[in-house]
Amino acid sequence: MLSRLSNISDAVNGPILFVAATSLFMLIVITAVMIYFTIKYHRRHSPVGEDIHGHQMLEVVWTVIPTILAFGFFWYGWEGYKIIKTPPDDAIPIKVTGRMWSWLVEYENGVQSAELTVPVGKAVKIDLASQDVIHSFYIPAFKVKQDAVPGVPGLFLWFIANQVGEYDVFCAEYCGMSHSKMLTKVHVVEPADFDKWLETEGAKVAEIKKATAAAESGTGTNLHILGEQLAKSKGCNACHSVDGTALIGPSYKGLYGKKEVVVSGGTEREVTIDDAYIKKSILDPAADLVKGFQPLMPSQQGLVSEGEIKALTAYIKSLQ
Ligand code: CUA
Repeated sequence: MLSRLSNISDAVNGPILFVAATSLFMLIVITAVMIYFTIKYHRRHSPVGEDIHGHQMLEVVWTVIPTILAFGFFWYGWEGYKIIKTPPDDAIPIKVTGRMWSWLVEYENGVQSAELTVPVGKAVKIDLASQDVIHSFYIPAFKVKQDAVPGVPGLFLWFIANQVGEYDVFCAEYCGMSHSKMLTKVHVVEPADFDKWLETEGAKVAEIKKATAAAESGTGTNLHILGEQLAKSKGCNACHSVDGTALIGPSYKGLYGKKEVVVSGGTEREVTIDDAYIKKSILDPAADLVKGFQPLMPSQQGLVSEGEIKALTAYIKSLQ
């Protein structure tokens, strides 16, 4: 519980220990006095009741001590809060976006990932955003947690990881059906490994950009491989399986070319899943909703390019 895996740990552990120790001390003192009085004022020891009026010293003591304690709690908490809210200027900025139901991690060089990778011993600042509802980015090992609220900019958390390793990341705000599946990892690696990783992934991004541009102009090859990468990085696979299992949305397997009954504005009709349908479903998911599913997917308007839609379509097509 009182691990010290990040610099924030101390800012949290100190106040927790202080409050817990004070509470324990008070519990012991109050219980002891209570037991003492129960015996002392038992009928057998003091058969005649007695009224006591006023005791200035006692009143001063029971006002001053709790006041000092309360301000002690405040001061200790405030000192920790200042640390939590003051990232150093040279912290590595990483953007994390919550959406139903996955996290998107973005680095300055354009690298996108579903998991967080950070260097050990270096300050990292996570800027949080949400695409739909309130999510909460929570790394218990580092004692950091911050809500991502749609429409509220400037939310962040920061930390310096103390130890190389792999730790859990949770969503700590109930955000709908698959809230519990918003699990991911933070990989803490040596700074040199981090730089290498970022560079390698950056090169991949450049490749994906080239491939997307090619897809846009209609000259792309192996579009389905690009589509598979996109389905992962954009979080599609949180709701769409590739093995035929229906999750939040229909499975991609065997979807292309299939005849589906969809609900369009309250009326049912049959459509064949083709390029146009997939594109519409990405940009306006609720318009022609496959019967039996809930309109839970957020619109991807402005979040996917024409080329990316082509690649995703090719990927779905390849999953027969
Ligand atoms: Cu996102 Cu719970």
